[in-house]
Amino acid sequence: MGVSDAMRHHAQLKSDAGGFELLARRLKQIVGVDLPVSPKNLALMAGRLGPLLRRHGLWRYRQLDELVGRNQEPLVREFISLMTTHTTHFFRESNHFGELANAVRRGEAERKGSENRPLRVWCAAASTGQEPYSILMTLLDAKPSLKANGLKFLATDIDRASLIKASRGVYSAAEIDNVPRAFQRKFFDSNPELDLVQIKPQLRKQVTFAEFNLLQTPYPFQFPFDVIFCRNVLIYFEAAETKRVCEKLVSALAQGGYLFLAHAETALVRKMKLQQVAPATFRKV
Ligand SMILES: C[S@@+](CC[C@H](N)C(=O)[O-])C[C@H]1O[C@@H](n2cnc3c(N)ncnc32)[C@H](O)[C@@H]1O
Repeated sequence: MGVSDAMRHHAQLKSDAGGFELLARRLKQIVGVDLPVSPKNLALMAGRLGPLLRRHGLWRYRQLDELVGRNQEPLVREFISLMTTHTTHFFRESNHFGELANAVRRGEAERKGSENRPLRVWCAAASTGQEPYSILMTLLDAKPSLKANGLKFLATDIDRASLIKASRGVYSAAEIDNVPRAFQRKFFDSNPELDLVQIKPQLRKQVTFAEFNLLQTPYPFQFPFDVIFCRNVLIYFEAAETKRVCEKLVSALAQGGYLFLAHAETALVRKMKLQQVAPATFRKV
């Protein structure tokens, strides 16, 4: 296909509101994410999905919807990856990391009487890894003894492509500008020629990355978590789904455990068994 065919295809997708609606419905069904039909989203998705369609010899959204409906891999995975937002950065909403460090230093993140078991941490929408590594750096800095078997750290996301990037832990040097200098030296290897940095192997090894859909019911965890981060994903779900996800998060949390939500998402847990201890920071009561 030549450039002018690709441009014609792009224009056709941009005006295919009916096809877009089918895909948006499919996305909501699988991922829970609401993607309204709007000129902005039509243009955005024509840019993202056009190359995917053409690579698979497809022309219309309707055809893609049918194949995704038939669970055709790897199309479903690519569809989920392209239709969801993965924006993230190191130490995003930075007050949370201060709260976490204080809680760990005060010994509050561990449950009473269970000081000898590992601290269990779950980052539930980990995207490309900047968030789980920010949490991990914070924990190890606040309590270096966590390194030796003192920590079980799970980082999940629905998007496999993001998790692959996360597990490699390679970022542009510019991306760690807002990471404290001492952390940069301690936790990253750098390659100045390529302008890249990489999370040190011993740190990467401490995190288990796994695919997990927050809509899944029930959650399969055997032991409760002491710390859960679930930020900047709930806003994409509709109200009833958000409530169900929040309830599952709270039940996966240990008594006294910490739940960190994005600042825009705090109203979502108002009636749950949680005590707000700092902005967008909750403990299970
Ligand atoms: C905007 S990013 C937020 C990343 C990070 N938590 C932060 O605050 O910087 C949202 C992430 O949620 C993931 N996501 C969307 N729907 C999901 C679902 N149903 N289950 C698990 N992860 C989901 C996306 O793949 C994406 O990586």
